[in-house]
Amino acid sequence: MSGTAGRLTSSSRPTALMRTVPGPSHSDPARLCFIVEERYEGDVMPASVAHTLVGWGHEVDVLRPHSVLTDVSSLVLDENAYDAYVLKTVSSGPGLTLLEAAAAVGLRTVNDHRAIRLARDKAVAACLARAAGIPFPTTYFAPRSVLLSQVPRDHYPLVVKPNNGSSCEQIHRVETPRDLERLEVDDAGHLIAQPYLPNPGYDVKLYNTGCEVFAAIRQSPLHPGSPVHERVVPVPAELRDLATTVGRAFGLDIYGVDVVQTRHGWMVLDINDFPSFGGVPDAAEQLARTIVRLARRGVAAPLRRPPFTAHTDTLEASA
Ligand SMILES: Nc1ncnc2c1ncn2[C@@H]1O[C@H](COP(=O)(O)OP(=O)(O)O)[C@@H](O)[C@H]1O
Ligand SMILES: [Mg+2]
Repeated sequence: MSGTAGRLTSSSRPTALMRTVPGPSHSDPARLCFIVEERYEGDVMPASVAHTLVGWGHEVDVLRPHSVLTDVSSLVLDENAYDAYVLKTVSSGPGLTLLEAAAAVGLRTVNDHRAIRLARDKAVAACLARAAGIPFPTTYFAPRSVLLSQVPRDHYPLVVKPNNGSSCEQIHRVETPRDLERLEVDDAGHLIAQPYLPNPGYDVKLYNTGCEVFAAIRQSPLHPGSPVHERVVPVPAELRDLATTVGRAFGLDIYGVDVVQTRHGWMVLDINDFPSFGGVPDAAEQLARTIVRLARRGVAAPLRRPPFTAHTDTLEASA
Protein backbone atom coordinates (compact mmCIF):
# COMPACT_ATOMS: atom_id res chain seq x y z
CA MET A 1 0.00 0.00 0.00
CA SER A 2 2.68 2.37 -1.13
CA GLY A 3 2.49 6.04 -0.43
CA THR A 4 -0.14 5.69 2.29
CA ALA A 5 1.78 4.74 5.42
CA GLY A 6 3.86 7.12 7.54
CA ARG A 7 7.31 6.12 8.80
CA LEU A 8 8.02 5.88 12.52
CA THR A 9 11.54 7.02 13.37
CA SER A 10 13.78 6.28 16.33
CA SER A 11 13.42 9.85 17.50
CA SER A 12 9.70 9.35 18.08
CA ARG A 13 10.40 6.54 20.54
CA PRO A 14 9.03 7.30 24.03
CA THR A 15 11.86 7.21 26.57
CA ALA A 16 9.79 5.06 28.94
CA LEU A 17 10.21 2.18 26.53
CA MET A 18 13.99 2.28 26.40
CA ARG A 19 14.71 -0.91 28.25
CA THR A 20 17.84 -3.02 27.93
CA VAL A 21 16.14 -6.07 26.46
CA PRO A 22 18.38 -7.21 23.59
CA GLY A 23 16.54 -7.19 20.29
CA PRO A 24 17.04 -9.15 17.08
CA SER A 25 19.99 -8.28 14.86
CA HIS A 26 20.00 -4.72 13.54
CA SER A 27 22.02 -5.77 10.50
CA ASP A 28 18.99 -7.27 8.83
CA PRO A 29 16.07 -4.96 9.62
CA ALA A 30 12.55 -6.17 9.08
CA ARG A 31 10.11 -3.95 7.15
CA LEU A 32 6.79 -3.83 8.92
CA CYS A 33 3.50 -2.05 8.38
CA PHE A 34 1.36 -1.46 11.46
CA ILE A 35 -2.28 -0.87 10.64
CA VAL A 36 -3.50 1.28 13.53
CA GLU A 37 -7.24 1.59 14.11
CA GLU A 38 -8.62 4.97 15.21
CA ARG A 39 -9.61 3.55 18.58
CA TYR A 40 -6.00 2.65 19.44
CA GLU A 41 -4.35 5.78 18.09
CA GLY A 42 -3.49 7.22 21.50
CA ASP A 43 -3.12 3.86 23.26
CA VAL A 44 0.03 2.20 24.57
CA MET A 45 -0.78 -0.87 22.47
CA PRO A 46 0.20 -1.32 19.70
CA ALA A 47 2.29 1.92 19.69
CA SER A 48 4.76 0.65 22.30
CA VAL A 49 5.49 -2.42 20.16
CA ALA A 50 6.11 -0.29 17.08
CA HIS A 51 8.45 2.01 19.03
CA THR A 52 10.33 -0.97 20.44
CA LEU A 53 10.87 -2.33 16.93
CA VAL A 54 12.14 1.01 15.68
CA GLY A 55 14.48 1.16 18.68
CA TRP A 56 15.89 -2.19 17.60
CA GLY A 57 16.61 -0.86 14.12
CA HIS A 58 13.60 -2.23 12.22
CA GLU A 59 11.53 -0.17 9.82
CA VAL A 60 7.95 0.45 10.84
CA ASP A 61 5.40 2.30 8.76
CA VAL A 62 2.06 3.17 10.29
CA LEU A 63 -1.11 3.03 8.24
CA ARG A 64 -4.18 4.76 9.71
CA PRO A 65 -7.06 3.44 7.62
CA HIS A 66 -9.57 5.93 9.07
CA SER A 67 -7.58 9.00 8.05
CA VAL A 68 -5.87 8.00 4.80
CA LEU A 69 -7.27 6.86 1.48
CA THR A 70 -5.52 3.54 0.89
CA ASP A 71 -4.44 2.55 -2.61
CA VAL A 72 -5.09 -1.17 -2.22
CA SER A 73 -4.71 -1.76 -5.95
CA SER A 74 -0.97 -1.02 -5.68
CA LEU A 75 -0.38 -3.61 -2.99
CA VAL A 76 0.57 -6.50 -5.26
CA LEU A 77 2.74 -4.29 -7.46
CA ASP A 78 4.76 -2.94 -4.58
CA GLU A 79 8.35 -4.08 -5.14
CA ASN A 80 9.26 -3.05 -1.61
CA ALA A 81 6.53 -5.12 0.02
CA TYR A 82 6.61 -5.31 3.79
CA ASP A 83 7.83 -8.44 5.56
CA ALA A 84 4.59 -8.36 7.55
CA TYR A 85 1.45 -6.36 8.16
CA VAL A 86 0.49 -6.12 11.83
CA LEU A 87 -3.01 -5.41 13.15
CA LYS A 88 -4.53 -5.12 16.59
CA THR A 89 -8.12 -5.50 15.49
CA VAL A 90 -11.12 -3.54 16.60
CA SER A 91 -14.64 -4.88 16.25
CA SER A 92 -15.96 -3.96 12.76
CA GLY A 93 -12.94 -1.70 12.16
CA PRO A 94 -11.52 -1.10 8.66
CA GLY A 95 -8.11 -2.57 9.53
CA LEU A 96 -9.11 -6.17 8.94
CA THR A 97 -10.04 -5.47 5.31
CA LEU A 98 -6.54 -4.11 4.67
CA LEU A 99 -4.92 -6.99 6.50
CA GLU A 100 -6.93 -9.45 4.41
CA ALA A 101 -5.99 -7.55 1.24
CA ALA A 102 -2.32 -8.03 2.14
CA ALA A 103 -2.89 -11.71 2.91
CA ALA A 104 -4.83 -12.21 -0.33
CA VAL A 105 -1.71 -11.41 -2.34
CA GLY A 106 0.50 -13.68 -0.25
CA LEU A 107 1.93 -11.18 2.24
CA ARG A 108 2.44 -12.20 5.86
CA THR A 109 0.06 -10.88 8.49
CA VAL A 110 0.30 -10.88 12.27
CA ASN A 111 -1.94 -12.46 13.48
CA ASP A 112 -2.85 -14.75 10.61
CA HIS A 113 -5.91 -13.13 9.02
CA ARG A 114 -7.94 -16.38 9.04
CA ALA A 115 -7.26 -16.91 12.72
CA ILE A 116 -8.51 -13.40 13.49
CA ARG A 117 -11.82 -14.15 11.75
CA LEU A 118 -12.22 -17.40 13.69
CA ALA A 119 -11.79 -15.63 17.02
CA ARG A 120 -13.67 -12.41 16.19
CA ASP A 121 -16.95 -14.15 15.42
CA LYS A 122 -18.05 -15.60 18.75
CA ALA A 123 -20.38 -18.17 17.16
CA VAL A 124 -17.54 -19.48 14.98
CA ALA A 125 -15.19 -19.46 17.97
CA ALA A 126 -17.69 -21.45 20.06
CA CYS A 127 -18.05 -24.08 17.36
CA LEU A 128 -14.30 -24.41 16.76
CA ALA A 129 -13.46 -24.45 20.47
CA ARG A 130 -15.90 -27.27 21.17
CA ALA A 131 -14.66 -29.26 18.17
CA ALA A 132 -11.08 -28.89 19.48
CA GLY A 133 -12.10 -30.25 22.89
CA ILE A 134 -11.71 -26.85 24.58
CA PRO A 135 -14.14 -26.43 27.52
CA PHE A 136 -16.59 -23.80 26.26
CA PRO A 137 -20.23 -23.17 27.21
CA THR A 138 -23.18 -24.21 25.08
CA THR A 139 -23.70 -21.31 22.68
CA TYR A 140 -26.76 -20.30 20.64
CA PHE A 141 -26.56 -17.94 17.68
CA ALA A 142 -29.51 -15.55 17.33
CA PRO A 143 -29.41 -13.20 14.33
CA ARG A 144 -32.53 -11.49 15.79
CA SER A 145 -33.28 -11.02 19.48
CA VAL A 146 -36.79 -12.47 19.10
CA LEU A 147 -35.16 -15.88 18.50
CA LEU A 148 -33.76 -15.91 22.03
CA SER A 149 -37.18 -17.06 23.25
CA GLN A 150 -36.33 -20.47 21.72
CA VAL A 151 -33.42 -21.08 24.13
CA PRO A 152 -34.43 -24.04 26.35
CA ARG A 153 -35.57 -23.04 29.85
CA ASP A 154 -33.05 -25.23 31.61
CA HIS A 155 -30.22 -23.02 30.27
CA TYR A 156 -31.31 -20.04 32.41
CA PRO A 157 -29.93 -17.78 33.73
CA LEU A 158 -28.60 -16.77 30.31
CA VAL A 159 -25.82 -14.49 29.20
CA VAL A 160 -26.72 -12.55 26.05
CA LYS A 161 -23.98 -10.68 24.21
CA PRO A 162 -23.18 -9.33 20.74
CA ASN A 163 -21.72 -11.94 18.40
CA ASN A 164 -18.89 -9.58 17.41
CA GLY A 165 -18.65 -7.86 20.80
CA SER A 166 -15.56 -6.80 22.70
CA SER A 167 -14.46 -4.84 25.77
CA CYS A 168 -17.26 -6.31 27.89
CA GLU A 169 -19.82 -4.08 26.17
CA GLN A 170 -23.49 -5.11 26.01
CA ILE A 171 -23.17 -8.17 28.26
CA HIS A 172 -26.56 -9.04 29.77
CA ARG A 173 -27.57 -11.62 32.33
CA VAL A 174 -31.18 -12.73 31.85
CA GLU A 175 -32.74 -14.58 34.78
CA THR A 176 -35.93 -15.99 33.24
CA PRO A 177 -37.66 -16.24 29.86
CA ARG A 178 -40.03 -13.48 31.02
CA ASP A 179 -37.08 -11.14 31.49
CA LEU A 180 -36.25 -11.51 27.80
CA GLU A 181 -39.22 -9.28 27.01
CA ARG A 182 -37.61 -6.43 28.95
CA LEU A 183 -34.15 -6.99 27.49
CA GLU A 184 -32.87 -3.95 25.61
CA VAL A 185 -30.38 -5.07 23.01
CA ASP A 186 -29.22 -3.69 19.72
CA ASP A 187 -31.09 -5.83 17.23
CA ALA A 188 -28.99 -4.55 14.33
CA GLY A 189 -26.14 -6.93 15.17
CA HIS A 190 -26.31 -10.67 15.72
CA LEU A 191 -26.43 -12.05 19.24
CA ILE A 192 -25.28 -15.11 21.07
CA ALA A 193 -26.72 -16.65 24.23
CA GLN A 194 -25.03 -19.00 26.69
CA PRO A 195 -25.97 -20.42 30.07
CA TYR A 196 -24.51 -18.22 32.80
CA LEU A 197 -21.56 -20.17 34.31
CA PRO A 198 -21.45 -19.66 38.09
CA ASN A 199 -17.96 -18.41 39.00
CA PRO A 200 -16.19 -16.56 41.85
CA GLY A 201 -16.85 -13.13 40.27
CA TYR A 202 -13.62 -12.63 38.44
CA ASP A 203 -12.16 -13.67 35.11
CA VAL A 204 -8.68 -14.94 34.52
CA LYS A 205 -7.28 -13.40 31.35
CA LEU A 206 -4.59 -15.54 29.79
CA TYR A 207 -2.26 -13.60 27.54
CA ASN A 208 0.13 -15.15 25.06
CA THR A 209 2.77 -12.76 23.70
CA GLY A 210 4.07 -15.50 21.42
CA CYS A 211 7.02 -15.84 23.82
CA GLU A 212 5.28 -16.51 27.12
CA VAL A 213 1.85 -17.04 28.67
CA PHE A 214 0.70 -14.69 31.44
CA ALA A 215 -2.39 -14.69 33.64
CA ALA A 216 -4.21 -11.68 35.08
CA ILE A 217 -7.21 -11.49 37.38
CA ARG A 218 -9.91 -9.07 36.21
CA GLN A 219 -13.34 -8.17 37.47
CA SER A 220 -16.27 -9.70 35.60
CA PRO A 221 -18.79 -7.16 34.27
CA LEU A 222 -21.52 -9.50 35.55
CA HIS A 223 -20.22 -9.12 39.13
CA PRO A 224 -19.68 -5.37 39.42
CA GLY A 225 -20.21 -5.36 43.20
CA SER A 226 -17.72 -8.03 44.25
CA PRO A 227 -14.34 -6.57 45.25
CA VAL A 228 -11.56 -7.94 43.04
CA HIS A 229 -7.87 -7.19 43.36
CA GLU A 230 -6.90 -6.99 39.70
CA ARG A 231 -3.35 -8.21 39.19
CA VAL A 232 -1.01 -10.41 37.19
CA VAL A 233 -0.63 -13.83 38.85
CA PRO A 234 1.56 -16.89 38.24
CA VAL A 235 0.14 -19.13 35.51
CA PRO A 236 -0.89 -22.60 36.66
CA ALA A 237 0.40 -25.30 34.27
CA GLU A 238 -3.18 -26.32 33.47
CA LEU A 239 -4.01 -22.81 32.25
CA ARG A 240 -0.79 -22.50 30.28
CA ASP A 241 -1.72 -25.71 28.48
CA LEU A 242 -5.25 -24.45 27.92
CA ALA A 243 -3.94 -21.20 26.43
CA THR A 244 -1.56 -22.96 24.05
CA THR A 245 -4.28 -25.41 23.02
CA VAL A 246 -6.50 -22.46 22.10
CA GLY A 247 -3.67 -20.82 20.15
CA ARG A 248 -3.02 -23.99 18.16
CA ALA A 249 -6.71 -24.63 17.47
CA PHE A 250 -7.26 -21.09 16.18
CA GLY A 251 -3.88 -20.52 14.56
CA LEU A 252 -3.23 -17.41 16.65
CA ASP A 253 0.27 -16.27 17.65
CA ILE A 254 -0.59 -13.22 19.77
CA TYR A 255 -3.82 -13.59 21.72
CA GLY A 256 -5.79 -13.61 24.93
CA VAL A 257 -8.21 -16.14 26.39
CA ASP A 258 -10.84 -15.25 29.01
CA VAL A 259 -11.49 -18.12 31.41
CA VAL A 260 -13.59 -18.58 34.53
CA GLN A 261 -13.33 -21.17 37.26
CA THR A 262 -16.49 -23.25 37.57
CA ARG A 263 -17.36 -26.32 39.59
CA HIS A 264 -16.70 -28.34 36.43
CA GLY A 265 -13.23 -26.84 36.03
CA TRP A 266 -11.90 -23.97 33.94
CA MET A 267 -14.12 -22.84 31.08
CA VAL A 268 -13.13 -20.62 28.17
CA LEU A 269 -15.55 -17.74 27.49
CA ASP A 270 -13.79 -15.61 24.94
CA ILE A 271 -10.76 -15.58 22.62
CA ASN A 272 -9.20 -12.30 21.55
CA ASP A 273 -6.57 -11.76 18.91
CA PHE A 274 -3.99 -9.17 20.02
CA PRO A 275 -5.41 -8.01 23.37
CA SER A 276 -3.96 -5.04 25.27
CA PHE A 277 -1.76 -7.12 27.61
CA GLY A 278 -2.51 -4.77 30.54
CA GLY A 279 -0.02 -5.23 33.38
CA VAL A 280 2.09 -7.82 31.53
CA PRO A 281 5.77 -7.09 32.19
CA ASP A 282 7.84 -6.41 29.05
CA ALA A 283 4.80 -7.05 26.84
CA ALA A 284 6.02 -4.63 24.14
CA GLU A 285 9.43 -6.29 23.90
CA GLN A 286 8.01 -9.81 23.82
CA LEU A 287 5.45 -8.86 21.17
CA ALA A 288 8.15 -7.15 19.10
CA ARG A 289 10.24 -10.32 19.20
CA THR A 290 7.28 -12.42 18.10
CA ILE A 291 6.47 -10.08 15.23
CA VAL A 292 10.06 -10.17 13.93
CA ARG A 293 10.13 -13.96 14.21
CA LEU A 294 6.87 -14.29 12.29
CA ALA A 295 7.91 -11.72 9.69
CA ARG A 296 11.01 -13.78 8.99
CA ARG A 297 9.01 -16.95 8.42
CA GLY A 298 8.75 -17.82 4.76
CA VAL A 299 5.47 -17.10 3.04
CA ALA A 300 4.16 -18.04 -0.34
CA ALA A 301 5.58 -15.71 -2.98
CA PRO A 302 3.29 -12.73 -3.48
CA LEU A 303 0.74 -13.34 -6.17
CA ARG A 304 2.16 -12.05 -9.45
CA ARG A 305 0.21 -12.66 -12.60
CA PRO A 306 1.09 -11.51 -16.12
CA PRO A 307 -0.72 -8.26 -16.88
CA PHE A 308 -4.21 -8.82 -18.20
CA THR A 309 -4.72 -7.43 -21.71
CA ALA A 310 -8.21 -6.19 -22.38
CA HIS A 311 -9.43 -7.18 -25.88
CA THR A 312 -11.81 -4.32 -26.42
CA ASP A 313 -11.75 -4.87 -30.22
CA THR A 314 -13.50 -8.26 -29.80
CA LEU A 315 -16.33 -6.64 -27.89
CA GLU A 316 -16.67 -3.90 -30.46
CA ALA A 317 -16.61 -6.40 -33.34
CA SER A 318 -19.44 -8.48 -31.88
CA ALA A 319 -21.57 -5.44 -30.95
N1 LIG B 1 -21.55 -17.61 29.87
C1 LIG B 1 -21.02 -16.80 30.79
N2 LIG B 1 -21.06 -17.12 32.12
C2 LIG B 1 -20.53 -16.30 33.05
N3 LIG B 1 -19.97 -15.11 32.77
C3 LIG B 1 -19.92 -14.73 31.48
C4 LIG B 1 -20.43 -15.55 30.43
N4 LIG B 1 -20.21 -14.91 29.26
C5 LIG B 1 -19.61 -13.76 29.56
N5 LIG B 1 -19.40 -13.64 30.89
C6 LIG B 1 -18.75 -12.52 31.56
O1 LIG B 1 -18.80 -11.40 30.70
C7 LIG B 1 -17.46 -11.03 30.29
C8 LIG B 1 -17.48 -10.53 28.88
O2 LIG B 1 -17.85 -11.59 28.01
P1 LIG B 1 -16.97 -11.92 26.74
O3 LIG B 1 -17.58 -13.10 26.08
O4 LIG B 1 -15.56 -12.03 27.17
O5 LIG B 1 -17.21 -10.65 25.82
P2 LIG B 1 -16.25 -9.47 25.34
O6 LIG B 1 -15.90 -9.83 23.94
O7 LIG B 1 -17.09 -8.24 25.40
O8 LIG B 1 -15.06 -9.45 26.23
C9 LIG B 1 -16.63 -12.29 30.54
O9 LIG B 1 -15.27 -11.97 30.70
C10 LIG B 1 -17.27 -12.83 31.81
O10 LIG B 1 -16.85 -12.10 32.94
MG1 LIG C 1 -13.80 -10.98 26.77
